[in-house]
Amino acid sequence: MTTIETIEGVRGFLDPMRRAGRSIGFVPTMGALHAGHWSLIERARAECDVVVVSIFVNPLQFGKGEDLDLYPATLDADLAGCDERGVDLAFCPTVSEMYGDGQSFKTGVRVSDLSEHLCGRSRANHFDGVCTVVAKLFGIVGPDRAYFGEKDYQQLLIVRRMVADLSIPVEIVACATLRERDGLAISSRNRFLSPDQRKAAAGIYESLTSAVEFVHAGQRNISELSARIRHHLETSGQARIDYVEIVDAANLESLTEIDRPARICVAVHIGETRLIDNVAVDAM
Ligand code: PAJ
Repeated sequence: MTTIETIEGVRGFLDPMRRAGRSIGFVPTMGALHAGHWSLIERARAECDVVVVSIFVNPLQFGKGEDLDLYPATLDADLAGCDERGVDLAFCPTVSEMYGDGQSFKTGVRVSDLSEHLCGRSRANHFDGVCTVVAKLFGIVGPDRAYFGEKDYQQLLIVRRMVADLSIPVEIVACATLRERDGLAISSRNRFLSPDQRKAAAGIYESLTSAVEFVHAGQRNISELSARIRHHLETSGQARIDYVEIVDAANLESLTEIDRPARICVAVHIGETRLIDNVAVDAM
């Protein structure tokens, strides 16, 4: 595996491969790689000739008071894991390689509407930061396919919209959420949970699956379903709810009834740690 820190270096590495007609698969990450990331990387490895992983904690997508400074950094282990899984290129730029001194960087990419729902309400400008860095990474890597987790469902839809709107020639591949045995979605933030908080966190997925069962039993009413999820989360004792929403899976608009493919999305704080999760649900 080759590790490169510069944009020019990435172009020099990939251009001959592209000219030779090899397909390029790309997995953008912020490092602290875990089984969820590995599942994306392994899928890219299975489907593409050349696999590129970026590791970059993007300051643009963190708001004031968010956990940028605390974001876990495990670069050596990340690179070893990428190497083991047959990644060809790890791109690990510095902040100044990506954004210069910060003063001269003037461009932002914003996907309206989709960015205003769900996490967009409590994390102002977060998705603008995501879109800007992802568009820039696509410009640097020029992948044929890029792999994103359904764990961050809103991010996935926003990136899809962005590449469609800007005619960026990349196929966005959605990958299922990888979970711990008790259902908790794997996240680099799970390591911040105390043993008690970790137990309470399992309630997030339980609340989602119990709502799905309720739908399958015939309940279509969103207020009833949301109330059930809220109750479930509140009885875990530890979770402070940021949002519980059941939205149209295609555009994240609120629903009053499950009458089309929907997504149940939740965000909670457990202690200082903010966790999100979501599942698909359909009336069928
Ligand atoms: P990061 O949180 O490192 O996640 C990188 C990718 O891994 C995302 O597509 C995310 O959805 C996916 N992922 C995380 N946990 C997962 C899990 N348990 N199962 C499946 N996939 C999972 O998302 C970002 O970084 C950044 O916003 C980024 C897109 C890199 C832009 O900075």
